[in-house]
Amino acid sequence: MLIMKAGNPLKSKIEALIVPVCEDKNIYVDKEIIDIITSVKKLKEFSGKASDEIILYDLPGVSAKRVIFAGLGKIGEVNAETLRILAGQIVKKCIGKELKRIAFITPDSKKLKIDFQVVGKSILEGACLGNFIFDKYISDKKSKILEKIELFVDAKDLKKNKGLDLQVETICSGAHLAREWVSNPSNAKTPEKYVETLKDVFKNSDIKYSVLKEDKLKKMGCGALLSVAKGSSSSAFIAIADYNPKNAKKTIALVGKGVTFDAGGLDLKSAEGMRTMKCDMAGSATGGATLHAIGILKPDIRVIGIMPIVENMPSGDALRPGDIVQSLCGKTIEIGNTDAEGRLILADALSYTEKNYKPDVIIDVATLTGACVVALGEKIAGVFSYNEKLAQKIVKSGTNTGERCWQMPMPDDYKKLLKSEFADISNMASGKWGGSITAALFLSEFVNNKNWAHIDIAGPAFSMKPGEYCTPGGTGFGVRLLCDYLIG
Ligand code: BES
Ligand code: ZN
Ligand code: ZN
Repeated sequence: MLIMKAGNPLKSKIEALIVPVCEDKNIYVDKEIIDIITSVKKLKEFSGKASDEIILYDLPGVSAKRVIFAGLGKIGEVNAETLRILAGQIVKKCIGKELKRIAFITPDSKKLKIDFQVVGKSILEGACLGNFIFDKYISDKKSKILEKIELFVDAKDLKKNKGLDLQVETICSGAHLAREWVSNPSNAKTPEKYVETLKDVFKNSDIKYSVLKEDKLKKMGCGALLSVAKGSSSSAFIAIADYNPKNAKKTIALVGKGVTFDAGGLDLKSAEGMRTMKCDMAGSATGGATLHAIGILKPDIRVIGIMPIVENMPSGDALRPGDIVQSLCGKTIEIGNTDAEGRLILADALSYTEKNYKPDVIIDVATLTGACVVALGEKIAGVFSYNEKLAQKIVKSGTNTGERCWQMPMPDDYKKLLKSEFADISNMASGKWGGSITAALFLSEFVNNKNWAHIDIAGPAFSMKPGEYCTPGGTGFGVRLLCDYLIG
């Protein structure tokens, strides 16, 4: 539980009180707190440098069992992300110490020259995101997450920002959901199981959840989507989560790639390339988890999550290179490579979305290309759109949330790389380079809406290394980004 409160933190009887400290400047107004920090800084062990930390027990005048002084570095270097990192790292440490209840003191936003909204929100976010463990399959569960995290703030700030704690907790629990789904192994999230997991999440919510099964998809003509599932013993689905409030001002559709395992199909991936491919449904996890948060936050917009869900496997029934399939919009696609399956399922999902919902804005999210990871690395997503304003708005949300995005080009002349001799288009570009761009250009052939953006999250969706406020596995990347885009 995340709680923002006013009052004297020094009088709070908790297990640990966390005091962020700058290396070069005082960032508090309360004299007692300033005095404690001044005396702690006299110790050689602690100067307030970034990641510096000292724990003092039973300090006179402090009711908390221990005070953890945490370094923020130089005041000029403090920003939303350094605050998130500090809070996340401290929470991870406190989990390791088997604590249950801790509280942070908020530095003075005027002294930091950062809006309180940002200071408070970032500490809450970092703390909440750090308070996560994925130990579903560990028999000997060693640690437990913290039960309660408090943030002491000024009474005036509390009044002005009522509900901020609940909002942050709702959005971060969306990120936790996405992390769980992505970290879950593919044998536990076959398409059949995954659509049921999603169903459970939307039970008792304001969201209407429905699933299109294979017979319906066949009748509709979703040949591209169905072709990917052919090699798998699981079927293809489109899961739909619809948040449709009475007073909706506009409709935004989130389309998410949901490949529960990407073996590559007959164009089989290497052992190394396949190892992390349980993450290939991260786009759908982002979409689904964002809808879950939106169902609680209840903005005045209709938000629809459209999640095409399949498994990409090789078998005697599998899709072959050279096969030609017909997509929902009628365009024929020659299969240049069965491992370029994400664009096939998205092609049909995008057509379906446009046709059935006529949304004002469509954003698709997908672990689409290795090329995007080559271009932007493991921490930054690629944003592709013909609508400059929309792309910039997404990039801005990336800056706000620390889920960084970089706008990529959509050059018209690269489209010729997708030419096929035998069909309307090939799912594989003829050149070797610019794979994330040609993938986006392929998708663009299946969308008419000018307000469409594609976000390639192949890099940041999953990591085998722990992040500053994340454990190894799914990162939940995109949920905070989309929530910021949707509700600001
Ligand atoms: N799921 C992969 C992309 C991916 C790579 C996601 C690394 C996460 C991390 C996608 O389906 C794929 O295999 N793409 C191919 C496309 C190629 C065959 C045109 C790729 O990127 O190599
Ligand atoms: Zn693939
Ligand atoms: Zn894939």
